[in-house]
Amino acid sequence: NPSSPSTRSRVLKDDTLPFSAFLTDSFGRRHSYLRISLTEKCNLRCQYCMPEEGVKLTPRAQLLTTAEVLRLARLFVHEGVDKIRLTGGEPLIRPDVLDIIAELRKLEGLKTIAVTTNGMNLARLLPKLKDSGLDLLNISLDTLIPAKFEFIVRRKGFHKVMEGIDKALEMGYNPVKVNCVVMRGLNEDEILDFVALTEKKPIEVRFIEYMPFDGNKWNFKKMVSYQEMLDCIKQQWPALEMVPTGHADTAKGYKVPGFAGKVGFISSMSDHFCGSCNRLRLTADGNLKVCLFGNSEVSLRDELRSGATETQLLDIIGAAVGRKKKQHAGMLNLSKMKNRPMILIGG
Ligand SMILES: C[S@@+](CC[C@H](N)C(=O)[O-])C[C@H]1O[C@@H](n2cnc3c(N)ncnc32)[C@H](O)[C@@H]1O
Ligand code: SF4
Repeated sequence: NPSSPSTRSRVLKDDTLPFSAFLTDSFGRRHSYLRISLTEKCNLRCQYCMPEEGVKLTPRAQLLTTAEVLRLARLFVHEGVDKIRLTGGEPLIRPDVLDIIAELRKLEGLKTIAVTTNGMNLARLLPKLKDSGLDLLNISLDTLIPAKFEFIVRRKGFHKVMEGIDKALEMGYNPVKVNCVVMRGLNEDEILDFVALTEKKPIEVRFIEYMPFDGNKWNFKKMVSYQEMLDCIKQQWPALEMVPTGHADTAKGYKVPGFAGKVGFISSMSDHFCGSCNRLRLTADGNLKVCLFGNSEVSLRDELRSGATETQLLDIIGAAVGRKKKQHAGMLNLSKMKNRPMILIGG
């Protein structure tokens, strides 16, 4: 078949075009960024991420082993992935997280290794994370009020997260990104306090529009749009200015002149950025997900375990990427569609 990914790939290589056909979709988007969920477990229970009663965990034997994670990572990097983010669940509770980072660090072509964490174990683990080769850190924090923190995440730990953020700064991580999911009636009154935090600390606060996932009781009224957040900040800081961001950056970047840090907005709902999407996701149970908001998945774990060769794996990956839709279904439709709860996807 002349248009199969393996043929396209050969053509590309012969012509020395730069990017793998397997990771290029039918809209020309090049998927150079892989997000790997390392676990379905978490030491917090955030309201927007999982239902109160918890989620049914996949039996351990069905989760990717360290060797399987690394074999898939190697394959993706060989095809042109240059950034891998480890997420979850809470990636830092996986016992082999440091080994995984150290092994990833050896992959030629992989420029950036990032972690998204809730920060609970961060202060303690940071020196080792840095030694293993971690480049970038995103830390989630939705409120600056300890009691509210407990309400949102259904656990204690506010001060540990703040300690994690400060330690990351102290150790020279730059930028340290702080992810804040904004929900009406819960923390939208803290937007200005979060911006104020960027005056002295060189952090990048990223306000995330609340997204619908299974079990998180999303509704349109609870979502605060990017435009609304921006208007609110501009009332206090009219000089807020836009700053340039990379082509595939999900956040729209801004800065209050003179402040050490920055702010960003992730407007997945009100103004999606599907057109420049370069992301693929691997769930902890080994499914490749080509879109955060699509429920189509293929099991790479099953292929690995039935002895697939690299070429066979690539054909399956190429076919899944080839089926990727142009854009997600729109926020109102998404809230009615079946998907996984966020904790089982890996944000
Ligand atoms: C699923 S978590 C996994 C990594 C880690 N446990 C953490 O909290 O950073 C990744 C990111 O997804 C975000 N997230 C989870 N549910 C969300 C939702 N419904 N809408 C928007 N962002 C969400 C979290 O705030 C977090 O920044
Ligand atoms: S957002 Fe992160 S910390 Fe919160 S429950 Fe989900 S996985 Fe855990």
